Amino acid sequence: MSREMVIVLDFGGQYNQLVARRVRECNVYCEIYSYKTPLAEIKEMNPKGIILTGGPNSCYEADAPTCTEELFELGIPILGLCYGAQLMQHILGGKVERAEVREYGKTDVLVDTKSELFRGVLPSTTCWMSHFDTISEPAPGFTVTARTQHCPVAAAEDLDRGLYVIQFHPEVLHTQEGTKMIYNFVRGICGCSGDWRMDSFVEQSVRIIREKVGSGKVLCALSGGVDSSVAAVLMSKAVGDQLTCVFVDHGLLRKNEGDEVEAVFGPDGNYDLHFVRVNAQQRFYDKLSGVTEPEEKRKIIGGEFIRVFEEEAKKIGAVDFLVQGTIYPDVVESGLGGESAVIKSHHNVGGLPDYVDFKEIIEPLRSLFKDEVRKVGLELGIPEYLVYRQPFPGPGLGIRIIGEVTAEKVRIVQEADAIYREEIANAGLDRGVNQYFAALTNMRSVGVMGDERTYDYAVALRAVETIDFMTAEAAQIPWNVLNKVMNRIINEVKGVNRVMYDLTSKPPGTIEFE
Ligand code: XMP
Repeated sequence: MSREMVIVLDFGGQYNQLVARRVRECNVYCEIYSYKTPLAEIKEMNPKGIILTGGPNSCYEADAPTCTEELFELGIPILGLCYGAQLMQHILGGKVERAEVREYGKTDVLVDTKSELFRGVLPSTTCWMSHFDTISEPAPGFTVTARTQHCPVAAAEDLDRGLYVIQFHPEVLHTQEGTKMIYNFVRGICGCSGDWRMDSFVEQSVRIIREKVGSGKVLCALSGGVDSSVAAVLMSKAVGDQLTCVFVDHGLLRKNEGDEVEAVFGPDGNYDLHFVRVNAQQRFYDKLSGVTEPEEKRKIIGGEFIRVFEEEAKKIGAVDFLVQGTIYPDVVESGLGGESAVIKSHHNVGGLPDYVDFKEIIEPLRSLFKDEVRKVGLELGIPEYLVYRQPFPGPGLGIRIIGEVTAEKVRIVQEADAIYREEIANAGLDRGVNQYFAALTNMRSVGVMGDERTYDYAVALRAVETIDFMTAEAAQIPWNVLNKVMNRIINEVKGVNRVMYDLTSKPPGTIEFE
């Protein structure tokens, strides 16, 4: 795909994905690569600009991540951020040393508004600082364009070479005018036209998929989640009924979810594709019978899912392509893109099927962030309730039922969860809380209902606010909402006599219970 691109070279900073997102928010396409990427490959990609990220090291230490000086001679505008700024200065002859005062947090920065980078920015602007080291003297050829009380070189530039450095983090929202600075760099200094949009993404992808697939057959495992739904619709738009979507109902979905997926993608739905629903509920319950250990449950569900999918695929026969709903953070997290890889080992069900006869994998969303996938979904006309669906784990309710999974327990948690979700939506909280669900604890306790003794299960309610799902805080759901949910669950769901709210943050808890 030939398009204008800015490259983010990742030096292990925690904000690498944010940098890429900010660039894309300026309608400029952007990808993250490791700082180890050979210069020839960078040249080959022909970027309009390069951004060097922050990182945890000190650039003057022997084994610190580095880059070759030739990078700065390519004639491509380069912006170094934090560690990236220090490294560029260090390599080009500036002085970087341990700061007397560590700057951390929101800091007032005085900027030279005549600099192209700070065009339209207030002369004194709040920025997010986080550094031990500091540039005490800029490299030859550089002019200082920003400073703080403790930091003599908060930004500098060498206009002749198109090189810019910023000590703070414009990609973080605490830097109030950070997006403007990134816009100034990519749209002004790099001269990108800003034609990266979701409608052009859809159009381009459809064209490329058609060329690639030709008259071939395509197979897709549809889960009903956002990523696989958007991938399926994009493929269907490109190749119509050459696409077959297999939807495995493992009996661990939320209430009515199987029918909802069928209503959208099935024969009465809106899309041109072959839809196969496999009702494998009992098969999964049988396999899970007597199993209580969480990881074992995950393995059984993941493994069985693959087997069911393979069996269906065999009926279809050989296909040319297998579609995967991989998105950009998956690519980066599996260590293929940037540098600061975090592996979420247990977060994907199973892996690839061994026995499906296909030639190639297609990952049409591979370059997109989650919010961009949602935009593509809306662009494709997928219903909003599907596009804004909260994350739902592959093993489904299997890991929201503590201990053994049975059909009866699935019914209880489905009913309770449906009530909880309905009331959260009624209270207008459904878009604000990032993930919320009911789980079934393995605890049964004594209660009293209508003068009779009960001995029933306790349902736990969970709701969290989180940005990255790696850390989370329990959401402060209003008491009256919780009360209503509790009352309804006790009254409407047979087998439950107690409702509890989980206050635990992550860490030390996790979002799911298992
Ligand atoms: P935890 O429980 O690890 O969850 O705090 C973080 C996020 O990951 C989801 N999650 C899973 N997703 N398979 C998945 O596809 C899994 O086994 C799994 N376990 C947790 C969880 O819903 C949350 O969004």
